[in-house]
Amino acid sequence: MEYIKLKNSDLIVSRFCMGGCPMGGYGWGDTQEQDFIDAINVALDNGVNFFDTADTYGLGQSEITLAKGLGNRRKDVIIESKFGVRIIDGKTIYDNSPKYIEEALEATLKRLNTTYVDIYTIHYRDEVTPLSVVVEKLIELREKGKIRYFGLSNIKDRDIDELKKYKGLFVNCQDEFSLACRKNEKALSKIEALCDVTPMTWGSLGQGILTGKYNADSKFDKNDRRSRDIYVNFHGEKLLQNLKIVEYLKQVASNHNKSIAACAIRFILDYFPNSVVLAGVKKPSQLLSNIEAMGWHLTNEEFVELNRLSFDVRSTK
Ligand SMILES: NC(=O)c1ccc[n+]([C@@H]2O[C@H](COP(=O)([O-])OP(=O)(O)OC[C@H]3O[C@@H](n4cnc5c(N)ncnc54)[C@H](OP(=O)(O)O)[C@@H]3O)[C@@H](O)[C@H]2O)c1
Repeated sequence: MEYIKLKNSDLIVSRFCMGGCPMGGYGWGDTQEQDFIDAINVALDNGVNFFDTADTYGLGQSEITLAKGLGNRRKDVIIESKFGVRIIDGKTIYDNSPKYIEEALEATLKRLNTTYVDIYTIHYRDEVTPLSVVVEKLIELREKGKIRYFGLSNIKDRDIDELKKYKGLFVNCQDEFSLACRKNEKALSKIEALCDVTPMTWGSLGQGILTGKYNADSKFDKNDRRSRDIYVNFHGEKLLQNLKIVEYLKQVASNHNKSIAACAIRFILDYFPNSVVLAGVKKPSQLLSNIEAMGWHLTNEEFVELNRLSFDVRSTK
């Protein structure tokens, strides 16, 4: 395993963070809680000490399953959870109000069966609460010992000037980035450089397309979010471009005797050398295949070719 110290903190984390979105058991097809619990334990046994979740994943189910999987090993790990997205009567509402942050944290602590969250992250900004008010609340919660640090997520270019004022306070920033999605790379690079936070990438496997197990004829059930056009990696022109990347990834995987998923992850680890990669995992075999990404590098030629192929994707919508 490779480890890194998160900026502005004393947290030493694995560069692979187990993503908890599928653990919510919602919108990822048929899943079994026991598979997630087993995957968490395999992760722990293989040096993963960083776990990501959010109150909104499966409306809290992800946090509950994570707590079950960690059991009394909770004290050995870093848990990141997020607030700010509420589902009310089926509608998504963004809420960063201090009152709601407090309520959300109490519910998260209960579900996680813990007295503190290591990193508490603004999942999405709302359009009304000033950042100064959110930060003031987070500092208060830190002083009470309910959270240790705070993080950012889904930052837009336009937020960066404002965030610079809080340099030294946030430890990390999560944004979507992968060989299949490069639209946020400038924002992620800028926030790392100007706000001094550790970049983290979500959707690192392009929601699964970069693992090599899907093709142009793959179909998803209705209870799988990837059946919807909005999950562009699996539809139209973008899908075909992604499959070209996968063809080359197969070659890279064979060169290094690694899984295809590991090679997709390795590209990110090499592209952002101070980053942590998040990937959603549904079962132990996926976890093991993903952490094959650790401890080696792509050749320069492979890196350049993957970079080139993924730029093509960026230029198509
Ligand atoms: N901050 C934010 O706003 C935000 C947003 C989204 C996600 N996240 C975080 O980032 C994490 C990662 O993103 P994501 O889960 O959306 O997408 P992802 O990591 O790109 O894809 C995850 C999916 O890929 C498949 N998979 C994973 N490893 C595999 C392997 N080795 N072999 C074959 N298939 C594999 C699994 O689905 P199948 O087996 O069904 O294909 C899995 O559910 C999330 O879990 C969450 O913790 C954060």
